[in-house]
Amino acid sequence: MKIFIDSADIDEIKLAFDWGIADGVTTNPSLLKAAVNRQIKAGKNLDIREYLKSILEIAGKTPVSLEVTETSAEGMLEQGERIYDMFHQASNNVNIKIPVNPAFQNEDTTHFDGIKVIKKLTEQGIPVNCTLIFSPEQALLAAKAGATFISPFAGRVDDDLRKNAGEEFQKSDYYPAEGREKNGKLLEDNGIVSGIDLVCKCVDIIELYGYKSEIIAASLRNTRQTREAALSGAHIATLPFGVIKDMLKHHKTYEGMKAFTADIVEEYANLK
Ligand code: G3P
Repeated sequence: MKIFIDSADIDEIKLAFDWGIADGVTTNPSLLKAAVNRQIKAGKNLDIREYLKSILEIAGKTPVSLEVTETSAEGMLEQGERIYDMFHQASNNVNIKIPVNPAFQNEDTTHFDGIKVIKKLTEQGIPVNCTLIFSPEQALLAAKAGATFISPFAGRVDDDLRKNAGEEFQKSDYYPAEGREKNGKLLEDNGIVSGIDLVCKCVDIIELYGYKSEIIAASLRNTRQTREAALSGAHIATLPFGVIKDMLKHHKTYEGMKAFTADIVEEYANLK
């Protein structure tokens, strides 16, 4: 499984690439806002174009997702093309993140605008990461429209299931892949019992019909969920830096380190 870093923080991105564990980067407007605010707070001058260029340089040849902020088909298409043209020449690793459906509510008439734009960008050879996927059906249509990447948001599915069940929870709390019962009933959203269940079903559909799209397990919040994403066969997991760091930690590793360092004999340590 490839690992992308889900961040717009240049220091985090640099570390992940320095450690040799990153195969790409995903950003979104909220991550970019947090990174920009951090820069401004640190008193740094921010030229957003240069800032993004630096991220693309660090990523080298690996893919970097930049999301549109427009919400109409025309707006997303124009912005997607503009962002791609701005960076593609120099870095050749940009893909454009398009929401599968940019509508704000059921009554809106823009439900198909995301799909239309995915098709148009793909036809021009601009790779698309289709984002905000919450059902396997959305993933199926994104694959048919030609999306290079498809991003089911696992953590936010778990949030929704817990919230609808009236539970209190922290964003980073683990939620079991097999789902959870409340009052003898399995919590579910139209048959989806967890975020990882959504990822698995998206992967199954892609594999079953041989679509070229790759599934990015997104909105992952903790290490166990990441493990389950890996076991689901997701092609990629995009991870916040905190989760990447947590993946290396284990109390028995610390205990073992203490025991081994206590047992070091000088003759061996000074072996020349
Ligand atoms: O990759 C999508 C991600 O940035 C959203 O994560 O934790 O805000 O649901 P989260």
